[in-house]
Amino acid sequence: MNLQIFDSPDQLHEAGAGIIGGLLQTKPSAVLGLATGGTPVGIYEELVKAHKRGLVRFKEATTFNLDEYVGLPGTHPQSYRYYMNEHLFSQVDLAPERTHIPDGMSPDPQEECRRYDALLQRAGQIDLQLLGIGHNGHIGFNEPDHALISGTHVVALREETRLANARFFDRLEAVPTHALTMGVATILKARTIVLVVKGEDKADIVHRALTGPITTDCPASLLQTHPNLTVLMDAEAGRRFR
Ligand code: GLP
Repeated sequence: MNLQIFDSPDQLHEAGAGIIGGLLQTKPSAVLGLATGGTPVGIYEELVKAHKRGLVRFKEATTFNLDEYVGLPGTHPQSYRYYMNEHLFSQVDLAPERTHIPDGMSPDPQEECRRYDALLQRAGQIDLQLLGIGHNGHIGFNEPDHALISGTHVVALREETRLANARFFDRLEAVPTHALTMGVATILKARTIVLVVKGEDKADIVHRALTGPITTDCPASLLQTHPNLTVLMDAEAGRRFR
């Protein structure tokens, strides 16, 4: 495991964008696994800057996002499709048909999960999976449970997750109750994983995930088994590693 702790958020964002940009420079046709949430926004900003300076191209890349809310169309400002369009897709040379996010409006969510897994399988291995971590140790929307699911599936969001994400919505009731998420096996199959963690409020969970027991009670703890994991943390999130 490669742990890096940065003094400033800007350094962390530049480092994250540097890893993704470096991969695209050496492998333009890379398959990227992408994450949403507050944490990666700065990394996407740096990637857009690098693209505008002519340093990084996405033309041949393919992207797969981790998850999407059930019931939110891509035009909804809190859908992950909208987020990705805003922060990255519309600002770089990625053809829309090369970007994949589960469809939260599918009339048959189970079928949508099968379709997503088939697309992932056709694309082959994800070269780089960008990840954040939830306060309860979730990755994507794989919530703590007595068992975890390997492929894409529908998940009922934990109340603490809805509360944490309520900051992006007008009110708690507007936060969807369900989501579609890539499963843990798909995440762990990625060639490289880059976990990004920011803020004092994540210090305990990231420490537990990376140094505690490997358990489905903390899905991020499974990352300890990955042979090529890089963790980028700001000073607050990384304080227990110093
Ligand atoms: C969200 C997403 C995760 C994300 C996590 C942390 O609900 N489904 O992919 O990593 O929770 O989000 P944030 O970066 O906003 O703290």
